Amino acid sequence: MGHVTKVLMKPLIALNLKAYRESIGERGLALCRIADEVAKSTGTSIIVAPQNVDLYRISKAVSIPVFAQHIDFNEPGAFTGSITAETVKEAGCQGTLLNHSEKKIPFEKMGAAIEVARKAGIKTLVCADSVDEAKRIAQFKPDYIAVEPPELIGSGISVSKAKPEIITNTVKEVKNIQDIPVLCGAGVSNGEDVRKAVELGADGVLLASAFVKAKDPKAMLLEMANAVRE
Ligand code: G3P
Repeated sequence: MGHVTKVLMKPLIALNLKAYRESIGERGLALCRIADEVAKSTGTSIIVAPQNVDLYRISKAVSIPVFAQHIDFNEPGAFTGSITAETVKEAGCQGTLLNHSEKKIPFEKMGAAIEVARKAGIKTLVCADSVDEAKRIAQFKPDYIAVEPPELIGSGISVSKAKPEIITNTVKEVKNIQDIPVLCGAGVSNGEDVRKAVELGADGVLLASAFVKAKDPKAMLLEMANAVRE
């Protein structure tokens, strides 16, 4: 495991495990094993972004792509406490989230951060908190952009229901600049929310609490994956 070819197809479900108590240690590993099983049984492309200290063992345990939730954008060197692109690559990651609303990068560093990841050979899923930020990020050609209105994050109210225009506008504006897959997130809570996001033109979803905090995370993820099976 861990060295299987990891080809991602649309629609994509990206699971950010954040730093929730429910995703620490063994619980994070169990959630990622569930994601691995659901990806296999449904043929859906699923990415997991576990907590940083678990990246190595989770990469060994699952065959779906594992992304870091963030990397520091310095090169390897005398940077105490830094987690570099090369470090997460070596740990088995295929990519990293960047610029999540809970871990923003100063905009002037965005290009450099994406470049550091590219040089290390990992993919970038860069978050944007608005259509405008997504457009500005597109110029750096990340591998994926995820638009997430911060006020809906963790709310249980899906962006695809509450602010569908954010999805349609981001897809339109980004694809005018570059053909970059656009995901959406914030409040995505069930299969219907995922289906709606895809109907609006999103290439996938990025979500956290509805999966991590679900009473039955496997049933929840199966519902989401089945909602967008072709
Ligand atoms: O990274 C995904 C995230 O910010 C959305 O969180 O809990 O609303 O799915 P949640």
